[in-house]
Amino acid sequence: MSANGPRVLVVPQVGWAAAVAAELAARLVERPSLRVCLPTGGTPTPVYAALAKAVRAGRCSLAAATVVLLDEWVGLAPGDPARCDVRLQGELLDHLETPPAFVRIGVDAADLAAAVARHDAAAAGLDLAVVGLGMNGHIGFNEPGSSPSGATRVVALQPVTITAATAQYGARSAPSGGVTVGFARLLAAQEVWLLVTGERKAAVLRQALEGPEDAACPASLLRRHPRLTVFADEAAAAQLRGI
Ligand code: PGA
Repeated sequence: MSANGPRVLVVPQVGWAAAVAAELAARLVERPSLRVCLPTGGTPTPVYAALAKAVRAGRCSLAAATVVLLDEWVGLAPGDPARCDVRLQGELLDHLETPPAFVRIGVDAADLAAAVARHDAAAAGLDLAVVGLGMNGHIGFNEPGSSPSGATRVVALQPVTITAATAQYGARSAPSGGVTVGFARLLAAQEVWLLVTGERKAAVLRQALEGPEDAACPASLLRRHPRLTVFADEAAAAQLRGI
């Protein structure tokens, strides 16, 4: 990586989640009112377990923080186990005695456009945006082709993403679309963290960090952020040449 490039932290798989949670806890200690955008998915699940443990141990608190949801499916019924709000609630918020303010995405509202505009406003002024990496390079539901100045919006999903909803996350029906915080808000956050684990992500992580900075791999657009940290486990980092 160049001197001005992202900070890439490579951690053995066994300690990866605890390392990310420890950094999150440190941010929360520095700024208890942290305004943080959080993702769901297989990658952050162990981080949330470790963070809840840190809260229970008294090492940090989310009581004064605000959590803004990164993305949400459209077309899944409230309570569907694949819903991002259900997952974040179940994996993190339900484990906290005093949970943070939680800004869900109002995909069940009669006026979806108004709900999306409200979420875009909620995603303004983030201290920290935490995101995962899709197999196609997507960030949230910013699929390939997304603009770096993209707003929070309703998006059509790629077949691979719809398949993940049912195969990986157990959705009871196929979602019809998604709502995602757009790159304009993510790149305006004070800090961005990209979480990546597993061998299956190695090629796409290499493309994101060492390939062209191009909307074909939306994650590569994060490199324009001056404070991007990549938390990778050793398997995900295996194809990186520049570290
Ligand atoms: P995963 O999903 O964490 O379940 O691999 C990441 C993503 O598709 O954004």
